[in-house]
Amino acid sequence: MIVAPSILSADFGRLSESISMVEEAGADWIHCDIMDGVFVPNISFGFPVLDAVGRTATKPIDVHLMIVDPGRYVERVRDSGAYLMNVHYEACTHLHRVVEHIKSTGMKAGVTLNPATPVELLRDIMAELDLVLLMSVNPGFGGQKFIGNTLNKITRLRKLIEESGSQALIEVDGGINEETGRACALASADVAVAGNAIFKSSNPQAVIASLHQR
Ligand code: DX5
Ligand code: ZN
Repeated sequence: MIVAPSILSADFGRLSESISMVEEAGADWIHCDIMDGVFVPNISFGFPVLDAVGRTATKPIDVHLMIVDPGRYVERVRDSGAYLMNVHYEACTHLHRVVEHIKSTGMKAGVTLNPATPVELLRDIMAELDLVLLMSVNPGFGGQKFIGNTLNKITRLRKLIEESGSQALIEVDGGINEETGRACALASADVAVAGNAIFKSSNPQAVIASLHQR
């Protein structure tokens, strides 16, 4: 799998060192969790920090917006240097418009689903998507327990992607460690986000290497 460490679990006082550390340890993408305290019950960080990540990271930046009406900030995210912009299905009234807007700026477009949102709701937009992010915890906090039903959702999403001729990657986020990551990889996930499992490990390189394997 592609491995995307979530900087939510990094030491924000040493952000650039933390990013360099995970890049040297083998990270493929850098995952940035933006929370507004409305869509999710927590506030993380905003655009000045995202810009700082953009100046430091050498790997592609995967932005996960946990905010209401994320379509308001497409250009702002693009200007930070993001590679991929992930918006929640549950936060967009006009999802097709937001996805087209994201792609018109040159970024890859990802749509994120909360644990209770069925993958089948994406059927009519699947062909337009570059990635689908399945939340394997309720969004808002790092360090939560993986929800087992995500494996079933990965399998159903893979079928939907094949049926629609979509090129979308499947990304999983929340409670991913070596064990749950392996289960997701076996279920056909392409990208693993991991916060605590990487940043709180004494050997981040080994964790990333393990997640890389199918
Ligand atoms: C949760 C965030 C995740 C979080 C993952 O709302 O979207 O990216 O940082 O953290 P872990 O891997 O610790 O569950
Ligand atoms: Zn995330």
